[in-house]
Amino acid sequence: MSPSLAAPATSDDESNEGATPRRRAPSFSLASLRVEAFRNLADATFEPSDRINVVFGQNGQGKTSLLEAIYVVATTKSFRTARLREVTTHQRGGFSVRASFIERRGDLPSLERQHTAVYAEGSLHVRLDGNRPQTLADYAVRSPVVVFHPEELTLSTGPAALRRRLLDRVALYRSPTVAAELSRYTRALRARQELLRRGATEAELTSYESILASSGSIVSRARREAVESLVEPTLEAFRRIAAPDLELTLRYRNGGSEDSDAFARELEQRRSNDRNAVTATFGPHRDELELKLNGRAARQVASQGQHRAITLSLKAAETNAVTSITGLEPIQLLDDVSSELDRERTEALLIFLAETRGQVFATTTRPELLTPSLGPENTKLFQVVNGELKSA
Ligand SMILES: Nc1ncnc2c1ncn2[C@@H]1O[C@H](COP(=O)(O)OP(=O)(O)OP(=O)(O)O)[C@@H](O)[C@H]1O
Ligand SMILES: [Mg+2]
Repeated sequence: MSPSLAAPATSDDESNEGATPRRRAPSFSLASLRVEAFRNLADATFEPSDRINVVFGQNGQGKTSLLEAIYVVATTKSFRTARLREVTTHQRGGFSVRASFIERRGDLPSLERQHTAVYAEGSLHVRLDGNRPQTLADYAVRSPVVVFHPEELTLSTGPAALRRRLLDRVALYRSPTVAAELSRYTRALRARQELLRRGATEAELTSYESILASSGSIVSRARREAVESLVEPTLEAFRRIAAPDLELTLRYRNGGSEDSDAFARELEQRRSNDRNAVTATFGPHRDELELKLNGRAARQVASQGQHRAITLSLKAAETNAVTSITGLEPIQLLDDVSSELDRERTEALLIFLAETRGQVFATTTRPELLTPSLGPENTKLFQVVNGELKSA
């Protein structure tokens, strides 16, 4: 793989009659951030570049925490933990993150909006320009962001849950209500298993199975549509990144059904089987995004470099899909993608940067590996030392 495999040039950059081309600002960016009591960040303020921001520092200084704070204020979730309490400094009290985001759509005047996420007394409170949104999902879709962290380097080889989460992130932007359906589904799935174990009545089981069938079929449809919006951009990115004779295919393998009646019937028939299983043997919790290389399961045949190419292509496609759904270029958070002496990961990061036109935040312990390839006019450097942030 070579970092010179950049995305094809587009006509977005305004040309300045033969002079140095003028850069178009990304359609969505973070203008400023204030973080309090968030992991080891006691009180940090931040005014990033609207293009590339390199956040560097030694291990354990707070680089990932800064990216996590941006992710939390944008999406209401952390990419490191499902429990936001862990994110508060020493798991006590609360944290707050306040962000000012700018949206630029076509030739309309740019729009600045304040997003705040405050965690207090065990729950998260979010506001958009001071107003409470109807749901957390409605809030999250207003500030598109794509994160790429070390765990995701195994997107093509790792557990199916990683790939399901990719589909769910894309699905959320298409329809924010999917998030609620998915959590309803997950709760009902656990309850049905408990009821099966206890030998509950037919009526009790039927009521939970009808919830599973109704929410599960909505999740299945949303994931199939998410795959449909990912296929083309993934293949397009893969053709650019990998060897041309390799054929990648993506297919949604539905673990359940989009037809809620068929779904309910299937659950009813599987009751005695499922009683002894860990969980239901039917439903979207068993979905898989199937990846094949030249007709064979990528998990079995792909080399390390091919896995990396698939993973990068999927992430590029996630960005592409979110851009076409929201009309905004998502902010890219790239955590530790360039790490100690790992040239291949650094190359992967540079390919990624070439692919994106949005605002980027990349953390590294080795800024000298990255900065020579990034134009200084577009790049701001920040150093994190013991939870404090300094412009470098
Ligand atoms: N809830 C918390 N309260 C206070 N400090 C925390 C909390 N959670 C983690 N930390 C500490 O915050 C520091 C910064 O962690 P972070 O993961 O942001 O470091 P990093 O700069 O990304 O390091 P690395 O280069 O090793 O990935 C670490 O010392 C970590 O132990
Ligand atoms: Mg880190």
